[in-house]
Amino acid sequence: SERPYVIDEMISAKAIAARIEELCVAIREEFRDTDKLVVVGLLRGSFVFIADLVRELDLPVEVDFLEASSYGDSMESSREVRILKDLRGQIEGRDVLVVEDIVDTGHTLKHVVGLLESRNPGRLRTIALLDKPSRRETDVTADWIGFSIPDEFVVGYGIDYAQRNRNLPYIGKVRFPDS
Ligand code: PRP
Ligand code: MN
Ligand code: MG
Repeated sequence: SERPYVIDEMISAKAIAARIEELCVAIREEFRDTDKLVVVGLLRGSFVFIADLVRELDLPVEVDFLEASSYGDSMESSREVRILKDLRGQIEGRDVLVVEDIVDTGHTLKHVVGLLESRNPGRLRTIALLDKPSRRETDVTADWIGFSIPDEFVVGYGIDYAQRNRNLPYIGKVRFPDS
């Protein structure tokens, strides 16, 4: 991971904010009768997206987190999803929105949805800021997607490369100049 790289901006902070506004119109409509929606962020990558999303959503929500990890520090999915931290609250009978930063192979989202479905929630919906359909190895898609992107290694807005660059306010793509 110490090979030198540069980051080119791909989706600006402004474009992300505008897209979140649009997505929230649809999500508000879907959950307008829900008493208190459980918004579940998948750590660590979704922490920035969920923060912006729940503030724009303006619905009664409970915020909970689940930590799943498949990449570690590598650029390649391990395809083995580990639950490192489970939800704090119960979701049985409750409406749930799972928030993911990116769906790549789909193993993470598929595993988490299966786990949460087994707890008999009410409506379970999923949202991902980014989707890389060309990399899919499973049959999942998020119910709402911010941006569909080509097969580029992206960072920023919560997404890391070897635990760095999560704090970039925009989505950038990693480029290795010497290759
Ligand atoms: C990344 C990303 C998604 C997942 C997507 O998480 O944040 O959760 O991989 O990949 P997949 O569709 O191929 O499963 P990672 O495992 O790197 O953990 P992190 O969120 O803590 O960075
Ligand atoms: Mn993640
Ligand atoms: Mg990661």
